[in-house]
Amino acid sequence: MDKRKIIVTSALPYANGALHLGHLVEYLQTDFWARYQRMMGHDVVYVCADDTHGTPIMIRARQEGTTPEAVIARSYEARVKEFGAFEMGFDRYGSTNCKENRILSEQIYLRLKERGLISSRPVNQLYCEHCGMFLPDRFVKGTCPRCGAPDRDGDNCSVCGATYNTTDLKDPHCAICGGTPVMRQSEQLFVELEPCRDFLKQWLPNHTDKGTADKLLEWFNEPLRGWNISRDAPYFGFKIPGYDDKYFYVWLDAPIGYMATLWAWAKERGQTLEDWWQDPKAEIYHFIGKDIVRFHCLFWPSELENAGYRTPTQVFVHGFLMVNGAKMSKSEGTFISAATYLKHLPAQALRFYYACKLNGSVDDMNLDLKDFVGRVNSDLVGKITNLASRGAQMLNKNCGGRLGAMDPESRDLLAACRAQLPELCEAYERRDFCRAMVIVREWADKANQLFDAKMPWKLVKEDPEATRAVLTGTLNLFRLMAIALKPILPAYAAKVEALFGEQPYTFADAARDLEDRAIAPYEHLAARIDPKAVEAMVAETKAQSAAKPAPKLSEKDIKKGVRQLTQAPVSTAFPEPPAETIAIDDLAKVDLRLATVLTAEPVPESDKLLRLTLDVGEAKPRTVFAGIKKHCPPETLVGTQVLMVANLAPRKMRFGVSEGMILAAQGPDGTLALLRPTAALPNGARLH
Ligand code: 2FM
Ligand code: ZN
Repeated sequence: MDKRKIIVTSALPYANGALHLGHLVEYLQTDFWARYQRMMGHDVVYVCADDTHGTPIMIRARQEGTTPEAVIARSYEARVKEFGAFEMGFDRYGSTNCKENRILSEQIYLRLKERGLISSRPVNQLYCEHCGMFLPDRFVKGTCPRCGAPDRDGDNCSVCGATYNTTDLKDPHCAICGGTPVMRQSEQLFVELEPCRDFLKQWLPNHTDKGTADKLLEWFNEPLRGWNISRDAPYFGFKIPGYDDKYFYVWLDAPIGYMATLWAWAKERGQTLEDWWQDPKAEIYHFIGKDIVRFHCLFWPSELENAGYRTPTQVFVHGFLMVNGAKMSKSEGTFISAATYLKHLPAQALRFYYACKLNGSVDDMNLDLKDFVGRVNSDLVGKITNLASRGAQMLNKNCGGRLGAMDPESRDLLAACRAQLPELCEAYERRDFCRAMVIVREWADKANQLFDAKMPWKLVKEDPEATRAVLTGTLNLFRLMAIALKPILPAYAAKVEALFGEQPYTFADAARDLEDRAIAPYEHLAARIDPKAVEAMVAETKAQSAAKPAPKLSEKDIKKGVRQLTQAPVSTAFPEPPAETIAIDDLAKVDLRLATVLTAEPVPESDKLLRLTLDVGEAKPRTVFAGIKKHCPPETLVGTQVLMVANLAPRKMRFGVSEGMILAAQGPDGTLALLRPTAALPNGARLH
């Protein structure tokens, strides 16, 4: 089987809200799928990031008397910890407020502009003179124009279900200060979609599920409306090139955050976007909720296509989370945050339960809390884990902790289960985790039947060797289940690897029998859930919703926040790891010198390297291996001057010793530029 190159993303969570069990429907299924692909031996990069820009973060910072950067840094820290606790295996978790994202956002915008897809027109919006800003829909409240209910949201009424324009609200008021906004006009920038009509019509049916594509195509009966991508200052985001007081709307730079995070990840490995996003062999998959298909299936592919980037291979759309058959509700205590869940229950229980429920469809998924307890206790603990705990503990106690040869019935059952592996993998591939879990449960049922029929607890008194054979069979069957469950339960599988003294499992390991070898002492794998823990979690969630809302801010606080926001430049610091600075003395340690390229030739065994000899003004030329083969034809280098690090410790490579490094800069699309002096100087001239 060919090794695939797979880029996987989950929608970027807003930095201003707490992670909840609804979010985890997406993150967990993406993680299951990415881990499955890695276990199949493919090259997988799973990236995600905090979605940091927009008005809400700015307001939050104002309310807290701090900067948006401080708010997003705090959120980032909490996020990374919570994701870690849920065993998420991102290859990189970034932030949209990073320099890679700024560069790509500007580049994509400018390319769209060059293609004539950006237009500008005046738009009327509500403006709060007191807060000094245009009000996004969610920051306007008013009386519903249809049913007359007071204090409704800016674009929809939860009493009568009407949707409307903010400008239609009666008695509109600013949700921040309560003041009455006025109508004001300002110029806004739009990405025009109508010119992308033919491209989208052809793209949509091939890159997402039929239901989603059909729904979106309904809009094609009318001219496609342009998409407003600008917001006026004050705003927290990236400034639009050429404007002092306009920023990219958060939804413009959010999906670009997928690429930015991938780019940052690639850079750390000496690679580029060209090696990944732009590699025609790489596959790009976005996992998203059904509420954001417009952004991912209309705007995003149009932008990419017109900016010269590859469009996603497939957009996988999922539904919402219901709890106990109803929408998540704060007052019912079912709007459960990730943090609250973790206080009461183990992460792997949720991973297992979600896997049992997710089938790759766009339908909503129900977390029935009673069913959750039952499934975890009866299936994960009762059926599956008990095989290991009983099998391994008996083997350690009665058979010297050594596996023997399997009994024939176990061997047959193992073969029958293995024969279902292609079906299991196929279920994983199409994100039908529910089917994969059914298969594992069926194996567990059969393994338990065999275990009960063999009665090893009795057999051990008469025939320890026959018992060893039975337990060897039981443990081999369990091992197969652990391999099959590894995408869902990675920490659990790691303990099983330790129990059997094995390397991290891939699906290839499923074909191997484990016989005639010692096992380690059994380490606890999974505990039963006490229904009381679930009750306590719900009660705590209810109490959170009853807590007093944050006090209204004083005018002074608001003014201070606005000052800070309008004066502080947008930070481009990537929150993790913190941007490090070096002292001038550190820089002095680097011996940077000019050198002339004497010879340049490709290293035949490498697709990246050129072998250069450089005159650095020393008695003998130096040999340097440089990873620039793809970018610089060797003949164009000979006779030119480059900048080199002359005191880099010599590095032994397969092809010889490299005695330095030449310097180059790389653009977002992978273009490489060698750094050269602007005037000819003698070889050996040093950085000054
Ligand atoms: O809907 C949301 O939660 C957005 N923060 C998702 C962004 S996904 C991507 F485009 F960045
Ligand atoms: Zn206001």
